[in-house]
Order: sequence, then structure tokens, then C-alpha cells
Amino acid sequence: MSPYLVTRTLPVNATDADLRTDVLQGLGRDTKSLPPKWFYDARGSELFEEITRLPEYYPTRAEREILLARAGEIAAASRAGTLVELGSGSSEKTRILLDALPDLHSYVPVDVSESALQLAAEGLLAERPALSVHALIADFTRGLALPGTPGPRLVAFLGGTLGNLLPDERAVFLKSVRSMLSPGDALLLGTDLVKDEDTLVAAYDDAAGVTAAFNKNVLAVVNRELDADFDPDDFTHVAHWNVEREWIEMRLRARSALTVKVRELDLAVSFAAGEELRTEVSAKFRKEGIRSELAAADLELGHWWTDEAGRFALSLSTPV
Ligand code: SAH
Ligand code: AVI
Repeated sequence: MSPYLVTRTLPVNATDADLRTDVLQGLGRDTKSLPPKWFYDARGSELFEEITRLPEYYPTRAEREILLARAGEIAAASRAGTLVELGSGSSEKTRILLDALPDLHSYVPVDVSESALQLAAEGLLAERPALSVHALIADFTRGLALPGTPGPRLVAFLGGTLGNLLPDERAVFLKSVRSMLSPGDALLLGTDLVKDEDTLVAAYDDAAGVTAAFNKNVLAVVNRELDADFDPDDFTHVAHWNVEREWIEMRLRARSALTVKVRELDLAVSFAAGEELRTEVSAKFRKEGIRSELAAADLELGHWWTDEAGRFALSLSTPV
């Protein structure tokens, strides 16, 4: 039986405390917003997996195409003994890497979604008895205490999740990733690329309404955790392409004027008719932008691979 360990670096009540702060701050402002990490309770993680299978949502398929084509090159360049994956979710595409890395000893998936992590780690344990899986329930925007597993270390951040951080959050995050790397280690980063508005908006506003359900799931999380009384039917799902910032904004728009009670916080939040709550940004990138964001964190962009259609990029960077 392979060693399989789940470590919680989030204190048991950290989620609760962080959610309280984020709701107080995010719903207390004139321009309302919530951080996207609150989508991912067990239901939200399931809905995200459903999104990855939608015809309109191309990023997962595009990134899988690159991984299948380049896994050998990634393995040769990284020679990884440990693969750390931030925001690992179902670890579905990761299996391509796990199969390709000949010297891999340990896999360290890191996620805030305990249910996704548990499911993924148990599946991997059954499939790959020789692999040491050390799952970490943690917020990757906070300092991570990584296990002292054998190097070299390959840190993977796939799916385009970097784009869910705001630019200043990305700068801090990339510096913290840099601090996880020693000479010989590398960062494998998946980034969605700027493209035409119709393709982007369709990917975030699918015909079957799965992304709308994912977006509204954050209201169910706040209702459950903080005894709030959001009615998801009072809101419509909005996916807006912000052409200046080059990011998709997901929002929830109040259908009419309403007030929501958040009983645990003793808070009443009023929405005007048509007022929007921003729930996520999903930034789209260009190669030079990625190169300079990496350079600002003392990381040098090495390989840059895209899918055939040029929709998504995978890059391999090393510490300078
Ligand atoms: N990497 C997978 C999953 C992407 S979905 C893929 O490419 O398909 C984004 C994942 O990041 C979710 O599993 C979510 O729970 C996790 N996540 C989001 N914000 C996080 C944070 N701050 N810290 C740790 N995990 C986070
Ligand atoms: C996880 N992340 C990269 C997804 C994205 O595309 O920004 C989350 C998502 N939001 C709506 N659909 C998918």
C-alpha cells in the first residue's frame, strides 16, 4: 500500500473565519464582489467538472491536448521527483504527467476543496500503488508548508486558475511560488489566451446553464455557512468580456431591488434592481504578459507550448 497522507494546513475553522471576512468586506462595498475560491464546496467542485465537459468550455480540452503532446518534453526538462499541483481539483489531466515522469516519487495535490482532494487522492491511490500521495488541504494564496519529498520539484498550476487572481494577487502569488523552487526545480503553468469575444463569452455562459449554476452556487455556500437567505432565482448569471483588462467577469445581477439577511454576521445587504455582484475574473493572457509577470517574480520563461488552435498555453519556467 502506498503512503497516502492528507494534511490540513487550514485550521478547521479557517474557512469559516475567511468567509466571514470576505462576505463582510465584499458585500459591504459599493461595488460588490466575492473571491472565486468560495465556489468550490463539494457541489461547486462537481459543477466545475461538468463545465470541463461542456462543448463551449474549450480550456480543459486544449490543455489536455498540450499535455498529451508535450508530456515527454516536460518530463525530460524537469526530471521531477515530486510533482506539487496547486488547485489540483480532480487531478484528471495530471494523470498524463504522472504517467510521463519516470523518476516521480511523490505527488502533492493542494486544494481548498476537501471533497475534490479526497476523491482524487483515493482514485490515484487505487490506480498507482507505488506513488506516494501527500494531499494538502490549503489555500495556495497563503504560505504553504510543503512536505520534504525528493526533488527536483515540479510545481504545476493548471487549468488557467492563475487568471482567477487579480493582477496584484498574481504578483504576490508568483513570488510565493518562486520561494517554493530551488535550482533545478520548475513551474508548469497553464494559461488561457486572449481570443475573440464570442468564443470567450460562450465558454462562460453555456447553453445548458451549467456555468450559471456554478456561479449561483456561491450563494448556496453563503446561505449554508453563514445562515443567509439569498434566493438564487433572484439573480441572473452574467459573463462579461472586459476588453481593457482582457478578462471575463462573472457576475450575479439582481433581478429586482432586494435585501438579503446574513444572520451569522448580523448583516443586511441591499441590492438595487440590476445591481451586480462580481464573483470571478478569469484573465486571458498573451505570451509577453506572462513572460513579464514571471520575470517580476524572478522566474524565467523557458518552454511555451500551445494547442494546435492557439487557444491555451502551457509554459515551463525556472528560477533565476
Ligand atoms: N486544476 C484543475 C482544477 C481547476 S478548478 C483543472 O485544471 O481542471 C480550480 C481549483 O482550484 C478548484 O479545485 C478549487 O477548489 C481550487 N482553488 C481555488 N482557489 C483556491 C485557493 N485559493 N487555494 C487552493 N485551491 C484553490
Ligand atoms: C478554474 N478556473 C480556471 C475556471 C476559469 O475558466 O476561470 C473557473 C470557471 N469559471 C467559470 N467557468 C469555469
